[in-house]
Amino acid sequence: MRERMVEIWRVLKPTGSMYLHCDWHAAHYLKAMLDEVCGAQHFQNEVIWHYRGGGVSPKRFGRRHDNIFFYTKGKTWIFNVDEIRTPYSQESLDRLKYTARSFRKTPAGEGKVYDNYEANPLGKHPDDVLDIQPTMPSSKERVGYPTQKPEKLLSVFIKASSNPGEIVLDPFAGCGTALTVAQKLKRQWVGIDISPTACDVMARQMARIGADIQIVGAPKTIDDLKRLKAGEFQNWVINRITGVQSNRMSGDMGIDGWTYLLHDPVQVKQSESVGRNVIDNFETAIARAKKKRGFVVAFSFTRGCYEEVARIKSEKLEIHLVKVEDLLARAEELYRIGLNPARKVEFEKLPKFDTTRRSVDELIASDRA
Ligand SMILES: C[S@@+](CC[C@H](N)C(=O)[O-])C[C@H]1O[C@@H](n2cnc3c(N)ncnc32)[C@H](O)[C@@H]1O
Repeated sequence: MRERMVEIWRVLKPTGSMYLHCDWHAAHYLKAMLDEVCGAQHFQNEVIWHYRGGGVSPKRFGRRHDNIFFYTKGKTWIFNVDEIRTPYSQESLDRLKYTARSFRKTPAGEGKVYDNYEANPLGKHPDDVLDIQPTMPSSKERVGYPTQKPEKLLSVFIKASSNPGEIVLDPFAGCGTALTVAQKLKRQWVGIDISPTACDVMARQMARIGADIQIVGAPKTIDDLKRLKAGEFQNWVINRITGVQSNRMSGDMGIDGWTYLLHDPVQVKQSESVGRNVIDNFETAIARAKKKRGFVVAFSFTRGCYEEVARIKSEKLEIHLVKVEDLLARAEELYRIGLNPARKVEFEKLPKFDTTRRSVDELIASDRA
């Protein structure tokens, strides 16, 4: 995390702000690391995101908050407080109806100056505790990514710390909530995620809300796909046949996913020369699921495999053999399904890592200098 933070801090512009979201597991370690990398003098707030939810232990207080550390890089920064004011409580409004509530002496020492405590018509100055509900399973925002955050939460930070046209970077972007909010608030955005599954979800989500997207470093070749972790490969395949992942992980009675439109079972193999035995096992799995059709996806199939598929067909069971290379050709199409076909989606290769860049320790040393 530390080396990533060094890079994040390095690319932040002098008037920029940085928010790091975590929870009780690591908050204390991360705060110490951030003070080291960003400089404790640049710390502004620990914002608490407080939310409702079920599942409390009877033996301790309910764990109902996350921590967001807010740092600014330079001497001046943007804080658009009027964009994020919150409603006054009735109690505060009752108190604030008395406008002149305290006085102090004039600078010259004679007479009194009354301080004005009128309620701000735009709302109260926001506290460092935000009460915002998490994204509920039934929410329209929900895209099915397990750690998805609510747009309302991200909008507080993006509105406070940037202006339209400026750039928001989320280097752990998940399903792209920060990017979605940035797009809606007319900011420019860049998202990074180590998981191709997250990038798929993110790219689809951004295309859905009308953004032109450029995807850098997505798997583009058979070799790239062979190198993916098994779970990522499975998600990649299922996404390309517009399916949904099976609830259980691999090994779940031979079905890895379901096609979206027809709800047919899919078996994914990250291997070459898939043989007859795979078809036999899958045949049983399809029958158990009470289906008449299924898909097997792999890099290649043996002749025995094709023969077995032909034999099964005579038993009124259809198994389609899909080669990964055919799905690769559909990479761009994925983001256009149900979208404006004129939408721009560009694929770029990952740029070569610049080995002449300074090391983490050099960067920290230069930060301190
Ligand atoms: C908590 S999730 C982010 C959720 C996001 N805020 C949203 O609303 O969807 C963290 C993300 O960081 C990604 N991640 C983990 N390690 C990473 C790394 N080294 N570089 C980039 N992304 C990483 C994970 O794949 C995951 O999608």
